[in-house]
Amino acid sequence: MPEPVLKTLIVDDEDNVLRAIKRLFMDEQTEVLTAASGRAGLEILKENEIALIISDQRMPGMSGSEFLKLAREIAPDAIRIILTGYADITAAVDAINKGGAYRYLEKPWKDAELLMVARDALDRYRLLRENRRLTELTRKQNEELKRWSDELQMDVQQQTIELSRQNKKLSELNRRLGQKIEEFIAAFSNLVDIRGGAAHGHSENVAAITQRIGSKLGMEKQALDRIVLAARLHDIGKIGMPDAIAIARPEDLSGDGLLQYKSHPVMGQSAIGMIEEFRDLGVLIRHHHENFDGSGFPDGLKGEKIPLGSQIIAGADLLDRLLSGGLTMDEIGAETRKRSVTVLEPELAYLIAHYMAEFTGYRANKGGESALGLENLRPGLRLSRDFRTDTGVLLLTKDTVLTEKHLELLKSCDFLNPSRTSIFVWV
Ligand SMILES: [Fe+2]
Ligand SMILES: [Fe+2]
Repeated sequence: MPEPVLKTLIVDDEDNVLRAIKRLFMDEQTEVLTAASGRAGLEILKENEIALIISDQRMPGMSGSEFLKLAREIAPDAIRIILTGYADITAAVDAINKGGAYRYLEKPWKDAELLMVARDALDRYRLLRENRRLTELTRKQNEELKRWSDELQMDVQQQTIELSRQNKKLSELNRRLGQKIEEFIAAFSNLVDIRGGAAHGHSENVAAITQRIGSKLGMEKQALDRIVLAARLHDIGKIGMPDAIAIARPEDLSGDGLLQYKSHPVMGQSAIGMIEEFRDLGVLIRHHHENFDGSGFPDGLKGEKIPLGSQIIAGADLLDRLLSGGLTMDEIGAETRKRSVTVLEPELAYLIAHYMAEFTGYRANKGGESALGLENLRPGLRLSRDFRTDTGVLLLTKDTVLTEKHLELLKSCDFLNPSRTSIFVWV
């Protein structure tokens, strides 16, 4: 787009001056407008964009400096030049101070000087206008940028909100999935636990003891949670086995029965391993009957080759079986220590024997059956089984609620004929 021609306004009451300057500017890059008085000049200013004003100082009515002062209000960007008589310095200073004149030139002017000053002033105006245009452009671009940035920010915010909504949904789904898995595991382990007698509640007991042993060992929660899950399912391979084999102690079995019993860790792993998320549990289940000295099954793993989780489950399993076997706490402790090195890793065996009461304390919370020695009995406990002396004399019947008198009776009998049998109570 060609640049518009800049306009110059010349104000002088002398017509010959106006014509002389107009003629002088004929070849210049500017359109010259003229006015014979300040008032007429102001009218032109209102209707045109004037880049340069050249005004005579001495005019009837309105002086040049007065005119420039008013012109400044209408066209503040126009470059103003005052023409003044040789001796009239005061008027020139006035025009500069009040009228904001860019320069003053003496009358009569020298053509070359006037042309040079006018060109200079027009260049100055052009620069000023360009500068203003660029400033305006920058302002607009900044505004646009800010709008984009605001929109972007809003988009990001919306996406963040959407993401966090999705995350919430996902974590809710995860929570529900976790719940379903827990329900599924509970249902499975119940299948094993519904057997009667000493096996009743075995999986749940082993899981609770495993949890306590793992905590005592300072295991990290996430790893321990997996081991506890495996503990709940450790005997899942016994589903479908006849009670006579499933509940039996392996040392009491032989032949096919023993073979069948020994298959339960592998059967358990096969069942659980079919679910991808449970593969790690399957490995722990497979090795829960390995012995520390390598005499266990199914793989005869030895020492540290046995996964730690399987070792802990084996310890918890042993403790629960001993607890259900009618032994006193001291006897159970002694039995556990006896199995150090052969069945259990020595430190684990001693840890279990030492914290036995703490590890089995869950029974009190769960309201289950517990085998207690005489020293642990207290009034208010209810017997879960008949209690007979070692010689077979029935001392207390099932469901008796213990009183101080019963305790005295039990103590005096024990004094006369010390008993090796625990008393089964609901705790
Ligand atoms: Fe087992
Ligand atoms: Fe077991």
